[in-house]
Amino acid sequence: MLNIGVLASGRGSNFQAIIDNIGTGYIKAKIVVLISDNANAYALERAKNHGIETLVLKPKDFPDKDSYYSRIAKELKSRDAGLVVMAGFMRVAGSALIREFPNKIINIHPALLPSFPGLHGQKQAVDYGVKISGCTVHFVDEGVDTGPVIIQAAVPVYDNDTEESLSERILKQEHKIFPFAIKLFSEGRLSVHGRKVIINSEREGAAIINPPLV
Ligand code: GRF
Repeated sequence: MLNIGVLASGRGSNFQAIIDNIGTGYIKAKIVVLISDNANAYALERAKNHGIETLVLKPKDFPDKDSYYSRIAKELKSRDAGLVVMAGFMRVAGSALIREFPNKIINIHPALLPSFPGLHGQKQAVDYGVKISGCTVHFVDEGVDTGPVIIQAAVPVYDNDTEESLSERILKQEHKIFPFAIKLFSEGRLSVHGRKVIINSEREGAAIINPPLV
């Protein structure tokens, strides 16, 4: 069975969606550790509620970025993690982590990449005036939200939307496509060919446009 290590910085609603989908058996995997850079992250409470080991590692306690991400990689390796999930981890992963887990780190971003990478993807979409935004699950590479796209969900943007209202609508889709992507990974149904991620699934077309309810 796949061992998953999760990195989160904040409230952890995506982390909860993953926990819930493991609980129902939709994803067959085990979360072996939650690592947070923020001792006040609500994600830590969620982990404790579900008996998941937690670890707080703060960048300021390390001399540099390399040693910080080497330590994270070491903790994940020692728990035999086969997948690293960045669930609202508000940092750009360092190369010391990425090279230890090639094509084994995934992230969720609240916009349709390559549009609106970086922070506040939802605000960027509202400010730009796009009519459709959404969310993207992608493999993590050294750039900011630049890795190969696994799955996306589109969400309408309405004239009276604010950052908050759009974020709420996008979040509902995040909670569907993130577990779905993890399920596909855990079943060995994702293969990466350059920038393209091929989903080996008879439902692939339908799933990408309308992620199945989980
Ligand atoms: C989500 O919008 C996610 O897309 C972004 O950060 C937010 C995290 O929310 N990367 P949560 O902590 O999972 O509730």
